[in-house]
Amino acid sequence: MNVLTISKIRDGTVIDHIPSGKALEVLKILGIKRGSRERVSMAMNVESQKMGRKDIVKVEGKFISEEELNRISLIAPEATINIIENFEIKRKFRVSIPESVEKLLRCPNMSCISNDNKEPATPIFRIEKTDNQVVAVCVYCGKKVYEIEEYLV
Ligand code: CTP
Ligand code: ZN
Repeated sequence: MNVLTISKIRDGTVIDHIPSGKALEVLKILGIKRGSRERVSMAMNVESQKMGRKDIVKVEGKFISEEELNRISLIAPEATINIIENFEIKRKFRVSIPESVEKLLRCPNMSCISNDNKEPATPIFRIEKTDNQVVAVCVYCGKKVYEIEEYLV
């Protein structure tokens, strides 16, 4: 698409090819909320050749951490990260989905040992990707989590 829906940025990070409707989750993962000082722009439900519709998030002055990338990959497995310096794309890469994640998700099963009141086991999930769906499977109780954003910690 040649339509420029939001302006280019000078320095910072552009997260592109976010599934339609997930931009707000990405902002949450990046810790951007009411009162945040970062200069942020986003577009929701814009046309995309690859995805039909997509969301985009641009954060000036922000350089994303490995842990943030892992979280983003779980809800936006096709996302492209563009690192911008002086208006130019310095680096562009796809997020990669980790094989397993520790301490990023909590188990929905309240009787899982990772939710034990006294001695909770460190939450660990194996990540499976099928077509366009990412599923996290608890290594202790086998619970499958499809609505990953609801269980991100
Ligand atoms: N971008 C930006 N500011 C810049 C440079 C790029 O906000 N100074 C944004 C573009 O608006 C786009 C993304 O970064 O959303 C990637 O830019 P570019 O690679 O030029 O676009 P495409 O070729 O469409 O990207 P892709 O091939 O990843 O779809
Ligand atoms: Zn569990």
